Amino acid sequence: MSYQITIQSSGHIYSAKASETVLESAISAGVNIPYGCRNGTCGSCKGDIISGTVDYGDYAASAMSDAEKAAGKALFCCAHPLSDLTIACREIDADVIPPRIMPARVERKVQLSHDVMALFLKLPSTEHLKFMAGQYIEFLLKDGKRRAFSLANAPYVDNMLELHLRLIPGGQFTEYVFNEMPDKAILRIEAPFGSFFLREDSSKPIIMVAGGTGFAPIKSIIEHMLHKNIQRDITLYWGARTLQDLYMPALPEAWAAEYPHIKFIPVLSDATAEDNWQGRTGFVHQAVLDDCVTGLADYEVYCCGAPAMVEIAHASFVKAGLPEDEFFSDAFNYAKPVANNK
Ligand code: FES
Repeated sequence: MSYQITIQSSGHIYSAKASETVLESAISAGVNIPYGCRNGTCGSCKGDIISGTVDYGDYAASAMSDAEKAAGKALFCCAHPLSDLTIACREIDADVIPPRIMPARVERKVQLSHDVMALFLKLPSTEHLKFMAGQYIEFLLKDGKRRAFSLANAPYVDNMLELHLRLIPGGQFTEYVFNEMPDKAILRIEAPFGSFFLREDSSKPIIMVAGGTGFAPIKSIIEHMLHKNIQRDITLYWGARTLQDLYMPALPEAWAAEYPHIKFIPVLSDATAEDNWQGRTGFVHQAVLDDCVTGLADYEVYCCGAPAMVEIAHASFVKAGLPEDEFFSDAFNYAKPVANNK
């Protein structure tokens, strides 16, 4: 059974199977609507049902309130059509790169800190992954579950993928990767996913906010910009608890030393006495607000990290004048309908 979905503002029409979510059929049809987690936790895909009915599916209460649902909102990554639909949502002015399933071989693991590992995956010689800097991949596990991780390399390096994994205590997949997974292991991945990528049609200065391994997609975006010689001003704030959690500071320090348009501001929230930290302290979003006393109206923000950090950054930056549609984010989500360890 299939239905017709119309996007109100653009008039784009696409066909959707009842067995697929509104988002899945949009991706298949090459229609680019915003999304992040694909599992009902981040809220990035939220839009309005103007007409028609949907099965709302399973989602986290924090992603959509009952009041929003009653007001006609739905999460398109969870909602299945039950009739033809007219929906309202933003569309992204970029081509959708259709996700593909492919094998990937573990080339090497590099321990970056006490609990962060860089995992390098080699694709078959005939395969190249086309993606946009900032997007993520999913591992397809034998039990049918998936685990998502942001790509840390820029797209011009398209047959060796780099991921930054934080060890999640009790997390089956990351414990396996850290403790048991042999070199040359073959994994199955599906990629690329996500609408967290550089909007290249803007010339606004950029504030990047990374929390922990949220540095990975930011690294991908900055390396992509350097490769393409895009010289927009970038101020990168990297928040971590302690010094050892800033797992590769030498790289952003080198960018800042070499490129006058890049600034790097590390921020520690729980620096220890041993850290002997002389730099910025407190919450990373607050460091941005403290520095931008005249407001954020003229910026674009790219923010990636834990949901609480992304949420408070979003709310406080919009309050400080950032236009709502200039905030791009990717929040890690750990345990919802399809568990996700980004
Ligand atoms: S809630 Fe739908 S993409 Fe995250």
